[in-house]
Amino acid sequence: MPYYSDELIEEVRSANDIVDVISGYVHLQKKGSTHFGLCPFHNEKTPSFSVSQNKQMYYCFGCGAGGNVITFLMQYENDTFQEAMEELAQRAGIELPKQELSQSVRQEADKRTKLLEINKAAAKYFYAQLRMEQGKRGMEYFVKRGLSAETLKKFGLGYSNKFSDDLYKYLRQQGYKDEILKDSGLISMDELRGGHDKFWNRVMFPIMDVNSRVIGFGGRVMGEGEPKYLNSPETMVFNKSQNLYGLNLAKISRKPYILLCEGYMDVIALHQAGFDNAVASLGTAFTPGHANLLKRYTKEVYCTFDSDSAGRKAALRAIPILKEAGITTKIVRMSPYKDPDELIKAKGAQEYQRRIEKAQNSFLFEIEVMEQEYNLKDPEGKTAFYHALAQKLLEFEEEMERNNYIEAVAEKYQMGFENLRKLVAYQGTRAGIPRENKPLKSGIQEKKKKGDGMRQSQKLMLTWLIEDPRLFEVVESCLGPEDFTEELYQQAAKLVFEQHKEGKLNPAGIISKFAEEEQQREIAGLFHTRLEEVTAPADKEKALRETIIRLKENSISYRSKHLEPSDMEGLQKLVADKKNMQKLYRMDFGKISRQQ
Ligand code: UTP
Ligand code: MN
Repeated sequence: MPYYSDELIEEVRSANDIVDVISGYVHLQKKGSTHFGLCPFHNEKTPSFSVSQNKQMYYCFGCGAGGNVITFLMQYENDTFQEAMEELAQRAGIELPKQELSQSVRQEADKRTKLLEINKAAAKYFYAQLRMEQGKRGMEYFVKRGLSAETLKKFGLGYSNKFSDDLYKYLRQQGYKDEILKDSGLISMDELRGGHDKFWNRVMFPIMDVNSRVIGFGGRVMGEGEPKYLNSPETMVFNKSQNLYGLNLAKISRKPYILLCEGYMDVIALHQAGFDNAVASLGTAFTPGHANLLKRYTKEVYCTFDSDSAGRKAALRAIPILKEAGITTKIVRMSPYKDPDELIKAKGAQEYQRRIEKAQNSFLFEIEVMEQEYNLKDPEGKTAFYHALAQKLLEFEEEMERNNYIEAVAEKYQMGFENLRKLVAYQGTRAGIPRENKPLKSGIQEKKKKGDGMRQSQKLMLTWLIEDPRLFEVVESCLGPEDFTEELYQQAAKLVFEQHKEGKLNPAGIISKFAEEEQQREIAGLFHTRLEEVTAPADKEKALRETIIRLKENSISYRSKHLEPSDMEGLQKLVADKKNMQKLYRMDFGKISRQQ
């Protein structure tokens, strides 16, 4: 956030009480020193969204969204940092110096706002056209496709008429100049003919971001014609790999999973049939950006793609991308129908629901597709297929999970669990990876858990320090920022320790020092870590002691491995810390936890 000084950002932030501001968006109820409400960033029935007056931060224990009052507006309103600052400054009556803003930055922010305005104006225009005499064809088309008036409204569907410059004229009338219109994705500029519309004689699907702001359009020919769908090109406000059609609606669905489909019409038909958790990508392939976006709202995705080979390919592509983001995937079969829209039209919502219930595990889907590449009637083909199967089963690093899949696959192909297990082990050793029967304990799973545990301890300590600064009295003598071995945590710890020294702990201010949304979320998480129900003083004491010791032991072992041999100061500190461990083991932590 390079455009304002740290002091100014802090002034604006602290002039806006977070409880006041968020109350304008979320219904909050006070419980103790914290306010709770239903999280606006994911779908939930019981409030896990907390706003702390003391910390001046919000954090959702359900989805991990978190930050300060500035990031709240950025997340909720999809504001840029700039826009959030302006809004909050205005709210608090603080004048932001214009000159601090470099001209190009200001222009960019203005341009973004203008482009959003233009998209919105166009959506309204198309929407109105559909309902006029000249929109009759469009309306007939939508009605023929079975869309209700309510659905048309919900998705803001519209119509671009036969004239190829009427939107252009309309937008000019509204005061927008060619200069900006040419970057809107809606108008092309031609030296000879002047401006004309990109979309005409098509039914129009406005594309919205998660906060329901129109960022682009898809337009379909009514009947046959090429291209069937025309889409806005990417613009400053339209990034196809960071947005999903229908997510603005699906994010408030009550269903725990999301239906991912291929087409706009599929999303619309599904919502109309009561499946309000459907989304689609925007005429492009599914990307890691999409997966990360979905991760905010769900842990499980049902791919409900077309039943043709393109749909199969799309699923094969999406599965590993979703897996990488930590999302499990199931595959819903549409055959003999082409897509969800056609299935629902032919068989109704109930049949679609049955298909969801029968959805296939994505791994089993992958091997079924693989199977088709081999001739299983030929012994050679069959052998090659079994080898390929064994190879694929190696994807599961954790033994128990792998065995469960070996069992399922062995049953499917009637080949005997032990036989397949041996083949997998053989493939594993051949690939140079020891895949012997390691007990679960020393397996990868366990290692990962230990790393997670370590991070958890570091987070817990930071939360404690923020919530009860008296802890510094003890902690300072044995822990320092260098003991937080996660890089981001260490940066945060440095700031926390510095602030404490200056006598002004201010966790919400720390968040503003990090530019990336992902970092801001994580930092907010750092200051909101909970240990399950520790209430008795003796338990508190024990938890504190154990956490300090774990942190210190971890930091010593980490530094032993990572210190530069030439870092004399670091080495001396390490030796001293090692010596002090004995003292630490004997130290009395009771005093402070009894104070609380
Ligand atoms: P489909 O061709 O499967 O269309 O394209 P559909 O959703 O079944 O549409 P209807 O039922 O014929 O109206 C799936 C998606 O691929 C993109 C669009 O996003 C479409 O929704 N697409 C398709 C394009 O962007 N351009 C095209 O020419 C075709
Ligand atoms: Mn279709």
